[in-house]
Amino acid sequence: MLRLQIPEKLASDLKKASETLLFSDSSVRIFSHHDADGISAASIVAKALIREDVQFHLSIVSGVRDEVIEKIEKENDSLILFLDMGSGDIERLDALGKDIIVLDHHSPKEYQGKVLEINSHRYGIDGTSEASGSTMAFLLSLAINPSNSDLAYLSLSGSTGDRQHVGGFKGINKRVAELGESEGTIEGKKSLNLRNTSLKDALAGSTDPFFREISGRADRAEELIKSMKIDPEKRVSELTEEEEKRLGSVLLIRLLKQGCRADVVDELITWRYLSRKMGIYVSEIADLMEATSKKDPGIGVSMGIGDEGSLYRAKEMHEEYHSELMKALLTLEKNGAREMEHIQWFWTYGEEVGSAQAGIGMQYLLNQEKAVFALTDIDDSLKISARGTKYLVSKGLNLTEVCREAAAKVGGNGGGHNIASGCTIPAKERKDFLKIADEMVGRQLK
Ligand code: C5P
Ligand code: ZN
Repeated sequence: MLRLQIPEKLASDLKKASETLLFSDSSVRIFSHHDADGISAASIVAKALIREDVQFHLSIVSGVRDEVIEKIEKENDSLILFLDMGSGDIERLDALGKDIIVLDHHSPKEYQGKVLEINSHRYGIDGTSEASGSTMAFLLSLAINPSNSDLAYLSLSGSTGDRQHVGGFKGINKRVAELGESEGTIEGKKSLNLRNTSLKDALAGSTDPFFREISGRADRAEELIKSMKIDPEKRVSELTEEEEKRLGSVLLIRLLKQGCRADVVDELITWRYLSRKMGIYVSEIADLMEATSKKDPGIGVSMGIGDEGSLYRAKEMHEEYHSELMKALLTLEKNGAREMEHIQWFWTYGEEVGSAQAGIGMQYLLNQEKAVFALTDIDDSLKISARGTKYLVSKGLNLTEVCREAAAKVGGNGGGHNIASGCTIPAKERKDFLKIADEMVGRQLK
């Protein structure tokens, strides 16, 4: 069996964590993040603990919020595991004085204390591009029992949800893919990044990539395919190599024309990993989990654990989510964003699709020179999703810093990654926040 090479210190900390979980007298309280990565991470750990007969109680939450802290205090939990979150709130967790394990990949703070914080960055593994929350969970599952290597596909679905597949998996993620391939649980192939339905549905339904004037328009999609003398009813996997190539180059030119950067266009023909267990691509698993994440993340976890009924339900949820997202993107395509000096911003189509609208908008629809801030009004608060491009990050953009500091200045909080961050602020502080963010980004890109 292929072995994953990981730093020694990481291996020993994972061993410590796995022993703490396996020999716990009480049920393990688990909190994981409500996105595809967090749900994949939760599925991996849940499956690994079920296999060892360890009792646990799992909740999918939006972050280490007051409610979570209150829950922990009220429930009197003694052993708590945070997945895909926790590093940003480490002092708060420390202050609880409980047995706490954090598995995270978001930028950690300076910390030395009682919480066993297993954050990829602390072991020289870049948590933005090489390891996600689910990768960390997968490593823990291997420490619990090496036979959990069959869960590699869930490690990759989480990493895909956090967009670490872009440009091909790297570092530890790549080794996870190789492990799955060597054991035959995963099959990797380079092909067009479209859903495997009839070509006309795949093209018209494509949100990522989003094709201007084609996505969301069945008639235009069909017209384009027919003009290339390809049968629009053919499934994507049934295309001949020549047809796939020809279609690929037409779509590639369209993306370049609509202003996408080369690294985004490169993703049109991409490595795709089929999970033999689930019969779908890991990117589709990520989409299904993402779809359950806002409505009923428990369905995403039971699907991850292997429940067929939940898979069916997740597919239904995805259809609903997908049609909302398409409407949101068509609106953004039509209206664009409002530009400030260094950033741009827009009102999202709602909380559910806001993050995706920001991410896809940044890559396929908006000014490539300015980071975007997508705003959603929720009661008296504003939820903000900030997204940049690799190019802007290479020039100094750091959205973690912007979301953390600009939000703190107006009484909010936030964090995340250089390229994708978020925050929540009081609604009345919108103008001040945007002004501070605009100035901060201006300084970063100087
Ligand atoms: O919500 P959204 O998808 O825009 O979040 C992007 C990133 O920012 C995520 O990694 C999320 O964990 C982080 N975030 C945060 N604090 C918030 C909102 C988002 O750290 N209040
Ligand atoms: Zn994550």
